[in-house]
Amino acid sequence: MKVVVTGSNGMLGSDLSRIFSEMHEVIPLTVSDMDLTDRAAVSRVIRELTPDIVVNCAAYTLVDQAEEEPDAAYRVNGFGVQNLALACSDSDATLCHVSTDYVFDGKKPMFDSFDHAAPLNVYGKSKLAGEMFIHWAMSKFYIVRTSWLYGKHGNNFVEKILAQAARSNELKVVHDQKGAPTWTESLAVALRQLVSTGAYGVYHFTDDAGAGISWYEFAVEILHQTGLERQLKPVATWEFPVKAVRPAISTLDCGLMEILGIRRRSWKESLAGYMEGRSIARPGVKTKGGSE
Ligand SMILES: NC(=O)c1ccc[n+]([C@@H]2O[C@H](COP(=O)([O-])OP(=O)(O)OC[C@H]3O[C@@H](n4cnc5c(N)ncnc54)[C@H](OP(=O)(O)O)[C@@H]3O)[C@@H](O)[C@H]2O)c1
Repeated sequence: MKVVVTGSNGMLGSDLSRIFSEMHEVIPLTVSDMDLTDRAAVSRVIRELTPDIVVNCAAYTLVDQAEEEPDAAYRVNGFGVQNLALACSDSDATLCHVSTDYVFDGKKPMFDSFDHAAPLNVYGKSKLAGEMFIHWAMSKFYIVRTSWLYGKHGNNFVEKILAQAARSNELKVVHDQKGAPTWTESLAVALRQLVSTGAYGVYHFTDDAGAGISWYEFAVEILHQTGLERQLKPVATWEFPVKAVRPAISTLDCGLMEILGIRRRSWKESLAGYMEGRSIARPGVKTKGGSE
């Protein structure tokens, strides 16, 4: 298949472009190749490239900044996605769009594809707008919500913990938000499988963290797998004031993907895979394989 990947130099887009190119002809696009907010450009580029499928990894992802500049978030995550949906529809291309756990309000132990979306922050609302525009504009689409991504091309939570551990002996980490950390490579492989099914719809995919783990538990495992000994102090969300409200629970029920035969790795196994790649990419950084 001819696959256009948007946001191809972002954290997910980089890994996804590589993983899809093992099986497909991939055309990676950055914002300078095609700015989602430019409707005419999106229409022209998609018409010229004639992809079978577009995987949209582009997004406005500054969760706290979005509270200050909602228009910027809606322009990319809402109307930008609408532009892509209309262009795909006109060119008879399938759209595979990545969305977020932040479309939910965190008031259930777990959220499935049919749960009511009620975002708590501007970023989540803008991502929900993008989902709705897809529903209204086209029929051949996959929307896949995921959570707590980390990958080698982004300044993610794992890197933040390791950077703090390099600076300090004591780290404070939030213990009252639950979710599922997800390695970008796991998600990319799952999306590659999903787009071969033709089972259009709204899905959830994360690494398997059971009923969810806290950021604190994630940090404990990061240090454990790295072999670093530091004092980790669990703190409440209110002790770390940020602009955007986060859902207390954002664990996603990934049952529909599993029924399609798409396997999920445990979050610890994925973290070990990430750490392994990290030590190869950055010689001298000590890692200790899987911990299960
Ligand atoms: N990170 C997470 O924890 C997380 C959790 C759940 C869901 N998601 C979703 O997963 C997807 C990938 O996230 P990510 O963390 O990989 O994001 P990311 O690293 O911030 O990458 C986003 C990419 O989008 C590009 N972009 C921004 N505005 C654009 C525009 N107007 N036109 C075209 N491209 C544009 C960016 O390009 P520049 O860098 O050049 O601006 C960047 O390459 C997003 O849909 C996000 O909402 C992420």
